[in-house]
Amino acid sequence: MPASLFRNARIVTPVDTGRPSAGPVQGRITAWEKGALLCRDGRIVTVGDESAVLGALGAEGRRGIAEERDCGGRCMIPGFVDAHTHLCFLAPREREFAARLEGADYLQILAAGGGILSSVESVRKASEEELFRATLDRARSALRQGTTTIEIKSGYGLSLEAELKQLRVIQRVGRETPLRVVPTVLAAHAVAPEFRGRPDEYVDLVVEITRAAAGERLARFCDVFCEKGVFSPEQARRILQAASGAGLGARMHADELSDSGGAALAAALGAISADHLLAASDAGFIAMARAGVIGVLLPITAFSMRKGFARARAMVEYGVPVALATDCNPGSSFVESMPFAFGLAVLQMGLRIPEALTACTLNGAYALGMATETGSLTPGKSADFLLLEGETPAILAFRTGMSAVAEAWAQGRLVSREAP
Ligand code: NIG
Ligand code: FE
Repeated sequence: MPASLFRNARIVTPVDTGRPSAGPVQGRITAWEKGALLCRDGRIVTVGDESAVLGALGAEGRRGIAEERDCGGRCMIPGFVDAHTHLCFLAPREREFAARLEGADYLQILAAGGGILSSVESVRKASEEELFRATLDRARSALRQGTTTIEIKSGYGLSLEAELKQLRVIQRVGRETPLRVVPTVLAAHAVAPEFRGRPDEYVDLVVEITRAAAGERLARFCDVFCEKGVFSPEQARRILQAASGAGLGARMHADELSDSGGAALAAALGAISADHLLAASDAGFIAMARAGVIGVLLPITAFSMRKGFARARAMVEYGVPVALATDCNPGSSFVESMPFAFGLAVLQMGLRIPEALTACTLNGAYALGMATETGSLTPGKSADFLLLEGETPAILAFRTGMSAVAEAWAQGRLVSREAP
């Protein structure tokens, strides 16, 4: 692919220091008021001040450029990395959402066989093609909101066959869309209905499913919903240790609804991330900071469940690298918009704009083991970037509830454009 030049852009990018951005570095960004980005074969060649980029190119170099675009002073940022989603499901649970507004409780619904388990029923029944079409629609919607890299979990199959079906669908979404898809096996999302009352036997099966997913190269990470009444810290430890033995990275749904020591366990196990953390303790944050575990915060879930937001400010102060993700799923957050997560983080969680930008891009990429490929506008990385209908990333929060993403580019190709 020939070279493309994007000029007259207000470029803002997190600075990649070679490790997840934490503490004072969480908000470290570089900005060029009149910037340019040159890419070739889908990779960033140079990025910086327009006059410097053009100067380095010379007149001859400029003649070799196949595509030159004037960005009209729009803000350019890296493509969003959504590091936590459950996009692979059949239908959202709209009636359950309404029931929760009337006072029903999320975990009680699950204990009575609804919630996650009702999504399991429909995913098991669905053909692979049906499930793919449903997932594809949401993947395209995420792309329109500026997501260029996305993690997608299984977790609505809860049997060997149905979990692998989900993981094949997830892999196909990666093949058939411009999204970079990172698959995670989450057989430990709930105890499968046929194992009711025999959770440890189900954990045996989870280990088997996890090994099979690793063996078929259908997953890169393993996740566990570690929560009172779902999977205990001991069960989580067993599953994640088996996953590491099979070559998968570990991540956890930790301390979402109550503090069960999930954050500290993630640190002890060397997990790449601990996610949710609404109820995590200070001791948990300190352990995460020491071990370098990334905190993936999911503000849309807290918003949709009408819970208090995670303590993002405290995490930054403790030196925990913070990432933001949508958690898009059929129950607790039916939203695939990273701009909305950004808006909530800035307006409700006390993150500063540069910190939230890092959280939505670079730290998400680190949380997926993808930071050498994407997450910042750095030479050598994939040319994954967005043009915003505004002058700075602040527009994302200012337009909360709307999308300020005018164009999304992935690997140097235009993959989504907002109708004018
Ligand atoms: O991250 N907490 C567990 N899993 C999802 C919700 C899944 C569902 O309700 O279907 C979450 O919020
Ligand atoms: Fe989740």
